[in-house]
Amino acid sequence: MSEFVEQVELEHNHEFDGQIDREKLKTFIAQNRAKYIEARPKGFLKANGLGDNLNKDGGFFGGVPQHWMLDWPIPFPLFVDSAKGVKIKDIDGNELIDLCLGDTGAMFGHSPMATQKALNEAGENGLTSMLPSKYADFVGAKLAQIFGLPNWQLALTASDANRFALRIARLTTGRQKILVFDGCYHGAVDETTVCLDKNGKTIAKPSLWGSAFDPAINTYCVPFNDEIEIEGILSGQDVACIIMEPALTNCGIVPPMNGFLEFVIKCAKKYGTLVLMDETHTLSTGYGGYSKVHNLKPDLFVAGKAVAGGVPCAIWGFSDEIKDALEKGRANLPSGHSGIGTTLGGSLLQLSALKYSIECLLTPQTYEKMIESAKALEEELLKIINSLNLNWSIVRIGARLEIIFSKEIPKNADEMRAIFDYELEEALHLGLINHGFLVTPFHNMLLAGPDLNKENILQYSQAVQDIIKSILKNKGE
Ligand SMILES: Cc1ncc(COP(=O)(O)O)c(C=O)c1O
Repeated sequence: MSEFVEQVELEHNHEFDGQIDREKLKTFIAQNRAKYIEARPKGFLKANGLGDNLNKDGGFFGGVPQHWMLDWPIPFPLFVDSAKGVKIKDIDGNELIDLCLGDTGAMFGHSPMATQKALNEAGENGLTSMLPSKYADFVGAKLAQIFGLPNWQLALTASDANRFALRIARLTTGRQKILVFDGCYHGAVDETTVCLDKNGKTIAKPSLWGSAFDPAINTYCVPFNDEIEIEGILSGQDVACIIMEPALTNCGIVPPMNGFLEFVIKCAKKYGTLVLMDETHTLSTGYGGYSKVHNLKPDLFVAGKAVAGGVPCAIWGFSDEIKDALEKGRANLPSGHSGIGTTLGGSLLQLSALKYSIECLLTPQTYEKMIESAKALEEELLKIINSLNLNWSIVRIGARLEIIFSKEIPKNADEMRAIFDYELEEALHLGLINHGFLVTPFHNMLLAGPDLNKENILQYSQAVQDIIKSILKNKGE
């Protein structure tokens, strides 16, 4: 999910503006919107409430609250008929190569065999019982082995896992405040829904609906990669936890500068603050996620979305020090509701899905395939950038990558906002769909699933090249 560059006034700084013909760009978008609609007569009817009464009967999914289904820069959403492996088919029979993969939920491909087995097994043997299943110890031990933390819990979503992990951080440190980075997204977790205003003040995201409290009250927001700001705040010794992605992936991809993550962890330790790595997206970095690949040792860890092959499931882990502090902390409290966990969390279904995911999906072999494909995508895109002499670059972290409309890679969300170009993004997005490729609507990010093949990659890059050529000033056709 992305902040979609919604909340802060934008000051564009397009180095490449001289290269793009804005008139051609507008015409391209208009033509491709028409093409999109023409190819989807059934989808058009559904989107306009004329299909199966979908919208008339209450606005299910097409309605406002699931805004990310409508946020795509396309005339109306793709109504999905089926999805398997790297392919997704809409109700009009249009088949697309899927490089969005449900914004990571289907990172290991749509309906992998392993997940089908888990679903069959759980379908036969029980879905939920409010009791641990026979796989609980296997799953716990394997998660410890893969991700490097000893203690594990389950939640239904990454949002929930973050909520519970933050609660534990507050309980064990006895502190109330948290620290997040500008441009972050950690799900529907109230206290993380903040950003920086133009004066560098932490404010609630202006787009937020119906908050029970002002999230800026207990949250410090700082620019990513800014060591001085971080130390300044942590030295006040009132921060329970830094919740962060190792690279921002929800305002475009903003990678950490050399040594930044090591600094954050060391500085947090110095001032008694815990570090929660939210690897819901960066699970795509490699086996064990970014933290494992880069030998980082966070105190708390969260991953959701893809971790159980697309079955609603998130994992959250913590250190033995936290476990000990937790035992002490809870000893002072009466028994009863802790605010941790939900009834369907840790269900038989989740444990079954996790078991098969651990055995067949979260493996070094799967990551090897995905990263090889992502590298090939990067190489092809770089060839286009070089041959057309574009002032663009590519950021890739493991199996995830995106085109940056600048030679300089942004160091924080503000720099990313400055190079954001909605029109250009829309053109690429729409054009790619009409060429048979679905990319993430936010920043046209790509995720290379294990089923992507060489032919898909070459066809994708040809499509990108054709689209860009048709909107350039000098090299247009
Ligand atoms: C880093 C990160 N954390 C948490 C979430 C929330 O995941 P969910 O919507 O599954 O709760 C997201 C969603 O995009 C995310 O990108």
